[in-house]
Amino acid sequence: MYKVLVSDNIAQKGIEVLENAGMKVDFNPNLNREEFLEIIADYDGIIVRSMTKLDKEALTKAKKLKVIGRAGTGYDNIDLEEATKNGIFVFNTPTGNTISAVEHTLGMMLSLSRNISQANQALHNDIWDRKKYMGVEIKGKTLGIIGLGRIGSRVAKRAQSFGMKVIANDPYLSPKKAEKINVPLLPFKEVLKKSDYVTLHTPLTDETYHILSHKEFAIMKPGARVINCARGQNVDTKALAEALEKNKIAGAAIDVHEEEPVKASNNPLLKFEDSVIMTCHLGGTTTEAMDNVSITAAEEVISVLKNNLPESP
Ligand code: MLT
Repeated sequence: MYKVLVSDNIAQKGIEVLENAGMKVDFNPNLNREEFLEIIADYDGIIVRSMTKLDKEALTKAKKLKVIGRAGTGYDNIDLEEATKNGIFVFNTPTGNTISAVEHTLGMMLSLSRNISQANQALHNDIWDRKKYMGVEIKGKTLGIIGLGRIGSRVAKRAQSFGMKVIANDPYLSPKKAEKINVPLLPFKEVLKKSDYVTLHTPLTDETYHILSHKEFAIMKPGARVINCARGQNVDTKALAEALEKNKIAGAAIDVHEEEPVKASNNPLLKFEDSVIMTCHLGGTTTEAMDNVSITAAEEVISVLKNNLPESP
């Protein structure tokens, strides 16, 4: 009987799929790093989201491991090179949480523009202040999308329906494809200069690490707003805090963070109560997305363990 460890929170439906296929499943999303390293050698398969770090140290200990299922999109918590060297299949489930990430981005943009989160917090503290929470409309504003892929292109479509002018930068997309959805592709700096809102939809790579830092905030339109529902390390948090401090940037909506979980000691954005809204990496956390990615990840793990082949090669 194959043993599968589920070390991050996934939907129960995924666990049932594994169990129905005869796998012995250990669902343990609360292991600390030491506990995780102690037991990883016992497993043939593992399913993770973004919290479990499958780095070289962990993969060296994982002697029996044949397959890593990433219930979600980003691979940045997995050392792909080391896994490949050790003959371990690694796959993600990139489509299952697309819509949830798109909708979260739009929600963050609207909440940022209308101070929904801050006004809610104030009202819960018995404060009624319509003047302080005056907002701005997004209609007629320019949205700059960095990364016009699966998520970025859907954000574009929805933003256009709100009457926003959408521009984008994506070095990997043909202008023809962008034209089809009515989004002009511009050089990165142009997008930054022209946008009232900049939203990131790039994976984390060497190229995109701190893609928004001091230099970029300096050239952005004064009073622009930033949204990051992609990867925490795409934004230089300290540089963003400085830009907010100087009122160069009017606000930010941040779902993903350089250090997760966020604590007061590791995140300078927490002090900007009026201009920064933050969520705890919730982009892919909906009932629908969690079911989708968990079931797909489970099916892929089963397929590799039983047939030594991924479900959709
Ligand atoms: C993803 O990469 O799919 C998202 O960050 C959601 C997650 O799995 O935590």
